[in-house]
Order: sequence, then structure tokens, then C-alpha cells
Amino acid sequence: MPPEALLNVDQLTVSYGGLRAVSGVSLLVPEGAVVALLGANGAGKTTTLRAISGLVKPSGGRIELAGRRIDGRKPSQIARLGLLQVPEGRGIFPSLTVRANLSMASYVTKRGDVEDEAVARFPALGDRLDQLAGTLSGGEQQMLALARALLAQPRLLLLDEISMGLAPLIVAKLFEEVRAMAASGTSVLLVEQYVSAALEMADYAYVLDKGRVVDVGEPADLRSDGVLTSYLGA
Ligand SMILES: Nc1ncnc2c1ncn2[C@@H]1O[C@H](COP(=O)(O)OP(=O)(O)O)[C@@H](O)[C@H]1O
Ligand SMILES: [Mg+2]
Repeated sequence: MPPEALLNVDQLTVSYGGLRAVSGVSLLVPEGAVVALLGANGAGKTTTLRAISGLVKPSGGRIELAGRRIDGRKPSQIARLGLLQVPEGRGIFPSLTVRANLSMASYVTKRGDVEDEAVARFPALGDRLDQLAGTLSGGEQQMLALARALLAQPRLLLLDEISMGLAPLIVAKLFEEVRAMAASGTSVLLVEQYVSAALEMADYAYVLDKGRVVDVGEPADLRSDGVLTSYLGA
């Protein structure tokens, strides 16, 4: 991978009390790339994302975003540098309308016509603008979460299992939009248990097991080397 990575995680360690959830994880996300973080339940994927976004404090290692050290900084400071996380469980405001969710997302970038753009990307949201976000289907909520990310125009987007519980056709649509965002310059680090779909869209993938990186490479290499099968049962 090129040295001018947007995100550079070096020897990250995170503990919860006595439990070491992440042990010396190093990974790179190049500009405009989609990088997948794969691994079984409990492997440390979510903890890695939360450490990058500042939601948990690392006990070791360093994290650089666009050349600036961000580990130990507050989530709001890191967000201001261009990082946006769509957490497990979506991170939308369920008791606000779809329209309000979208306009809040574009507040930072001060863009008008945000609804039009969101609806152009996700036509299913078009009929739902005045509906409370919490009453949308799972797939629509995830579309809204991605539409919010799109409008916020982050440099780095962290996605935690956006495919969870959704039908394959909806997952394919979401992943297509993620690829489109990467093509327009947003770098993406995504956690997935839906391994085959993630490998189809990723430029690089890391495999985590028990808090450590056990394999890294381009999807074609990972598919052929058998590590995925042994760690994920894929
Ligand atoms: N808030 C927490 N407090 C204590 N232990 C946690 C917490 N969150 C996660 N863990 C533990 O850390 C390990 C890694 O969890 P996690 O990062 O959520 O894995 P993944 O996202 O890969 O399923 C697991 O053993 C999990 O039980
Ligand atoms: Mg997780």
C-alpha cells in the first residue's frame, strides 16, 4: 500500500478493564480506498473502529489521520478533521423525521437541496421524508445513515456492519453507494461479517482474530489463501 495513507493505525492496543480486546493492530487506509475489516464475533472489529473515532481510549499505539495524531483526542475533535462513523445500529435519530436527519447531516457542509441529492441516491427515501426515521424498515434506516454520511462529505467514513439483518439485494445497493462515495474521494473502513460481499467491493482487507491481525491483502489473495475459511468459516 502507498505510504501516503489517509489513516495510519500503528500497534493499536485497547483494553476493557483486564480484558485486552485489541492487541497491536496496525492497518492503513489509503486515500479513496475501501478497506474491509473482517473477523468473527468478538474479534475486536468494533473496538478498533471506536478507538479510531475516539469513543474508546487506546492503551497503546498511535493513530494518524491525514498525518495528524488523533489517538487520545475527543470524538468531536476527530470528527472535525473529517472522520464520520456509522455505528453498529445505524446512528440515526429515530424520533426525528427523515428530512430532519438529512438537514442535520448537511449542517456542517452548509449545502442546500440536500433532500434532492439524498433521494437521487436512495429513491426509497423520497416517499418517506416526513416520516419518523425510527418507523423506517431496517434497509431504509441504513440508507438514511449512508445518505447522512454522503451529505456530510467526510474524508474517512467508518461503517460498522451496515449489512446486519438486511436482504442481499439491499446490501448490494448499499455497497454500491459506498463504492460510489469512495470513487468521489471518501476513504472507507468497513467492518463486515458478510464476508463475500465485502470482499467484492473492497480494495484491501484485514482479518482480525482475538484482537490481532492474522491476514491482510487484496481480496483475490485472501480468498485463495485459506485463512478466511479457518478464521471465519467463510
Ligand atoms: N464495552 C465493553 N466492555 C467490556 N468488554 C467489551 C466491551 N465491548 C466489547 N468488549 C469485548 O471486547 C472484545 C471485542 O469486542 P468487539 O470489538 O465488539 O468485537 P467485534 O466487533 O469484532 O464483534 C469481545 O471480547 C467483547 O466481549
Ligand atoms: Mg462489532
